[in-house]
Amino acid sequence: MRVLLTGAAGFIGSRVRAALEGAGQEVVALDVMLPAAHGRGAQAPAETHLVDVRDAAALAPLLDGVDVVCHQAAVVGAGVNAADAPSYGSHNDYGTTVLLAEMFAAGIDKLVLASSMVVYGQGRFDCPDHGRVDPLPRTRADLDAGEFEHRCPTCGAPLQWRLVGEDEPLRPRSLYAASKVAQEHYALAWAEATGGSVLALRYHNVYGPHMPRDTPYSGVAAIFRSELENGDVPRVFEDGGQMRDFVHVDDVAAANLAAVESPLTGFEAFNVCSGRPISIIEVATELCEIRGAAPPVVTGQYRSGDVRHIVASPKHAAERLGFRAAVDPRDGLREFAFAPLRT
Ligand code: UD1
Repeated sequence: MRVLLTGAAGFIGSRVRAALEGAGQEVVALDVMLPAAHGRGAQAPAETHLVDVRDAAALAPLLDGVDVVCHQAAVVGAGVNAADAPSYGSHNDYGTTVLLAEMFAAGIDKLVLASSMVVYGQGRFDCPDHGRVDPLPRTRADLDAGEFEHRCPTCGAPLQWRLVGEDEPLRPRSLYAASKVAQEHYALAWAEATGGSVLALRYHNVYGPHMPRDTPYSGVAAIFRSELENGDVPRVFEDGGQMRDFVHVDDVAAANLAAVESPLTGFEAFNVCSGRPISIIEVATELCEIRGAAPPVVTGQYRSGDVRHIVASPKHAAERLGFRAAVDPRDGLREFAFAPLRT
């Protein structure tokens, strides 16, 4: 198959490219080399078209003979402030609409879309007495008092986290999340209008070699790893009990390969996760121990808008895509502790 891969030079895109090529697929690679992701003046890797997905005229000739588009290009992170909104809207959403229009023009009927667990906004929660509940945002008074768990809106009891399936409501809480939900919705509308197929891969917390260093847009794995490299002690917010699913970048690449090769039709979303939940304190402690560094500091501080727990169910991706993560985060983090970061 001939696969047009956007964002091919990125942390995830470059591993997706390797997985596709390793499986014998022909890859047409493109990347616009955004300075926020690659650093200023970074060169595109060999055989990579320096093309912006928003540029229809540049995109059209590259779609010639393509069977599947694998769309990894995006502005990432959570957004620092409202001034970032046009960048998310333009690169992620307008870019996706241009891509879909050009795919339609070229008669291409399949898209694999890099989405994110941030589309859910928060995890799933149960109250011991009231069953499944939709928690209210945590109050400042609770957070200041070190009460970090969500409470039942009926009885106030602390809630228990549960695995999130793909049919949970989409409740974006950041600019990035809003742009990922919009991408999914444009792709869904495209699939329905054209009869094309879309596989939306909702990545959980991705980590692995050549992850970009700590920036204002980085997730916690890059932050802890950069702190350790600088001789600083990782700072764990809240009580460290926040639960996440850390998925290795090579597993994310394997999920993309499975999606590219999948015969599924219509629009379908998939959690891409390891299926082995881990707490933030465990991530920090693991990284510190392996590097022989002092243990992490649990600060008790909190960031407004942080999600307490978001942990995915890997079941749907296993059943429908045949994707099961190979790397246990406890092994992957051991490797990540010394793996090179992107400069
Ligand atoms: C992150 C990304 C999100 C991405 C998702 C999946 C950010 C800001 N968020 O969401 O865009 O789609 O992963 O890959 O990039 N923490 C600490 N110490 C720190 C930093 C963070 O304890 O120095 C804690 C936070 O309080 C939070 C947890 O670590 O509880 C995860 O933080 P982070 O990785 O920033 O956000 P996610 O919600 O997991």
